[in-house]
Amino acid sequence: MDAPLLELKNASFSAAGNDIVKGVSLEFAEGETVALVGPSGSGKSTVLKLVAGIVVPTQGSVRWKGSDIASMGRSQNLAFRRETAFVFQDSALWANQNIRQNLEIPLKTHFPEMRSEDRNSRVREALAESGYRRTLEIRPADLSMGEQKLVGFSRAMVLRPSTLFLDEWTESLDEFAARRLVNAVREKKKQGKTIVFVSHNFAVIKDLADRIVMIVDGRVSLSVTHEQFAKDANLAQYIEQGISV
Ligand SMILES: Nc1ncnc2c1ncn2[C@@H]1O[C@H](COP(=O)(O)OP(=O)(O)O)[C@@H](O)[C@H]1O
Ligand SMILES: [Mg+2]
Repeated sequence: MDAPLLELKNASFSAAGNDIVKGVSLEFAEGETVALVGPSGSGKSTVLKLVAGIVVPTQGSVRWKGSDIASMGRSQNLAFRRETAFVFQDSALWANQNIRQNLEIPLKTHFPEMRSEDRNSRVREALAESGYRRTLEIRPADLSMGEQKLVGFSRAMVLRPSTLFLDEWTESLDEFAARRLVNAVREKKKQGKTIVFVSHNFAVIKDLADRIVMIVDGRVSLSVTHEQFAKDANLAQYIEQGISV
């Protein structure tokens, strides 16, 4: 088997005296779509941020293409950032930058030589993907939570990443917008992108995930393939109950 694209090796994360993630080991193959599920506060977002290199483990390691993310050299770290993108549960847009600037910052960081026409078309393309239609000359605080979510999704897509980390990316959206963002991710999956997502939506999990990993109290409590849970009604019910808490 090929080496995994991403790998958590006995990774733990503690903060403010709390053990939030406790010795988690997981592998993510290139092109795989994995759902992280579990009750609220169980550590799903923290595990996702560990895999994405946004949070550094207090013990253990996270590897991308075999290299420890925490000790990678600058050029490899830049490549990792360029090829991966994170959609935050709370959108996490830059508050003092307008929508255009929010999307331009990643492009200017990774492609400083890009011509402004090309940058504009990449920004337009990424916004069209999420269906964001309002002005670009507006600050995030003047948008609804749902609109911010669309912009957060588009900002993540603007670099055309090959790996996506999505944290509850359809929550707080109306049904139409949520369907659009699920369709957008299904399209990425078809293109062979690697996707790790957190969701409480069982229909979305069933639709997209090749594998489901349940996190309970900072530990992996279950890891099953789509085939395993598709043919086992008890397992499916167990997962559905586990994510609705
Ligand atoms: N940096 C941090 N400092 C202190 N507590 C944190 C930190 N990050 C997460 N937590 C806490 O750890 C628990 C798990 O958080 P999180 O990973 O966001 O869970 P989930 O996404 O499953 O709801 C929560 O109680 C949260 O408040
Ligand atoms: Mg969370």
